[in-house]
Amino acid sequence: MAEKTRIFAVVNQKGGVGKTTTSITVAYELARLCRQDPQPGAPSEHVLIVDFDSQGNCAHALGVAPNGKNLANVLLGNGSVRDNLINVDRRDDGLPRPNLWLLPSDQQLAAVKTRLIMREAVQSAMSMMELDQSQEQVPIVEVMRAEIGPIAGRFAYVLIDCPPSHDAFMNAVYNLVQAAIVPVKVDYLSTVGAAQNIENIRKAQMSGINVRIHTVVPTFYVQRQVQDNMMLEALQNAYGIRTVAEPIPRSQPVAEASASGGMTLQEYAPDSPATQAYRKLAERLYYEQ
Ligand SMILES: Nc1ncnc2c1ncn2[C@@H]1O[C@H](COP(=O)(O)OP(=O)(O)OP(=O)(O)O)[C@@H](O)[C@H]1O
Ligand SMILES: [Mg+2]
Repeated sequence: MAEKTRIFAVVNQKGGVGKTTTSITVAYELARLCRQDPQPGAPSEHVLIVDFDSQGNCAHALGVAPNGKNLANVLLGNGSVRDNLINVDRRDDGLPRPNLWLLPSDQQLAAVKTRLIMREAVQSAMSMMELDQSQEQVPIVEVMRAEIGPIAGRFAYVLIDCPPSHDAFMNAVYNLVQAAIVPVKVDYLSTVGAAQNIENIRKAQMSGINVRIHTVVPTFYVQRQVQDNMMLEALQNAYGIRTVAEPIPRSQPVAEASASGGMTLQEYAPDSPATQAYRKLAERLYYEQ
């Protein structure tokens, strides 16, 4: 793996907090920065999104058809990562994205995960009982590293859009990445049913993340809501002001972009407040050392 490739998991076990939106929007912006302001020594100018969620939202959000390509093929040994990549450039539709790539997923990923987890459990039971002398166990972590590791060297950034759950595969993801970007919904009103107070909401959203947290991204922020500001403050107190990014406002264009049939937020609303906040987040990742 090229030394300078930076691999992040975009993770939160809570659903609907903005993981996919953050993955796509930040990846798009990083790809633009790589083209416009290439950094000396960067492995290449390319950015890869890995859809690690069997909901398969990334291809839809980018308006591209996977045509049989998916991460499940790779994990089953039916083709390399390279065979399953999609260049999401849509310049014919007026949406140029020359250096942005996607390793897509679909429902097959759920079945493949179950199969690999079962296989690993059976193999470890057999080796404990000394029934398996073959030494041919391939733990999930190794499958992931062996398949995704080498190709990552072609990319300056790899963002892994994770599912709203914490199965055994998440440990494989944590072994692959350098750190996590964690979108956290600060929208108190929509989460009040799940927890009684701000601190419980924060803990519930952040639980089970077994990797260094690079950036916490407050999402769905409404500045005039007292509760949203309390949640923001709770995040800053818990993770430090430097780890918590500028909040992403709750914004109609974000919702509309994802319903637009495949335009990114920057393409749909280049100057909305949410677009600007995501731009700052990407710049913060791009220019830090
Ligand atoms: N800042 C925002 N303002 C308004 N709507 C938003 C914002 N961020 C995300 N959304 C919308 O909320 C919905 C959920 O967002 P998204 O799919 O990014 O969340 P997720 O964490 O990936 O969900 P899942 O856990 O199901 O994978 C989408 O319809 C998206 O358009
Ligand atoms: Mg998602």
